[in-house]
Amino acid sequence: MKIDYQEPSKDLLMRIDIHEKYGSANIDMWTNELLQPKAGMTILDVGCGAGKLCFLFNDYVKGGAKITGGDFSEELLEKAREKNKKTGANIDFQFLDFNEKFKFEDGSFDLCTSAFAIYYASDLDFTFGEAHRVLKPGGRLFVSGPLPENKQMFYDIIKEATNKPIPPMPGSSRFKGDIFSTIDRIFAKTELHKFENHLTFPEVAPFIDYVRASLGEDRRLWTSMFNGKDEYEALIGKIEEVAKKWFDRDGKLVMTKVIGGILATK
Ligand SMILES: C[S@@+](CC[C@H](N)C(=O)[O-])C[C@H]1O[C@@H](n2cnc3c(N)ncnc32)[C@H](O)[C@@H]1O
Repeated sequence: MKIDYQEPSKDLLMRIDIHEKYGSANIDMWTNELLQPKAGMTILDVGCGAGKLCFLFNDYVKGGAKITGGDFSEELLEKAREKNKKTGANIDFQFLDFNEKFKFEDGSFDLCTSAFAIYYASDLDFTFGEAHRVLKPGGRLFVSGPLPENKQMFYDIIKEATNKPIPPMPGSSRFKGDIFSTIDRIFAKTELHKFENHLTFPEVAPFIDYVRASLGEDRRLWTSMFNGKDEYEALIGKIEEVAKKWFDRDGKLVMTKVIGGILATK
């Protein structure tokens, strides 16, 4: 399967900001508590985007780990490098396409992570095989992504607004199934952890900002619902109408993110 996917940086940063403002739980704390990165470790973050996880680990170990972030979006890598300079962090941000052989020696890393990214890989055996190869014996892989019950309310509102079935999302449909089983097959030990975050929107506008930033992310996946700018705006208008109706009925809009974390050991 070939999934052509590029994240516009403004959409990614908008979604991160919305989670910080309206979420009930902090995925960064969950990630750090689960993984407990330590000074002296070598860490590779695959599909690092603007470097969220790299900076998180770097702060946690107070700069004591050797961290590499890889992504195929030069735009996002540039954002990460700017922050690297600004904060005086010493993270190595470099081009990496997870559909190609990783440019690292066998057994180079203690920890390989990928947040909301690697599940877009075209050939799961190949990509997770590469993650396995570059890990040291006993090294750990951590992959986070949406579980099937993720943000049900978001999909229900879109369904009500369009009267159409939601197109399959490769993230949530593959995560618990193909992705877990591929990792489980390649690694010695695999566990699935779960994280829940209730996003409570005190008004409709930030929810619509989230919808725009999400439909942007998965633009190619939503082609059955809109074609071109005018249809996109008409769709957003309909979603806004339904969201307002739900908001007037319930006094708030609550969307629950249900995230899985696959933690595997080589
Ligand atoms: C939803 S973003 C997550 C970014 C980051 N991990 C975070 O948590 O903020 C998905 C990322 O996967 C990257 N990506 C998608 N396909 C890729 C590929 N083939 N190789 C490397 N990165 C890829 C995108 O550029 C984007 O940065």
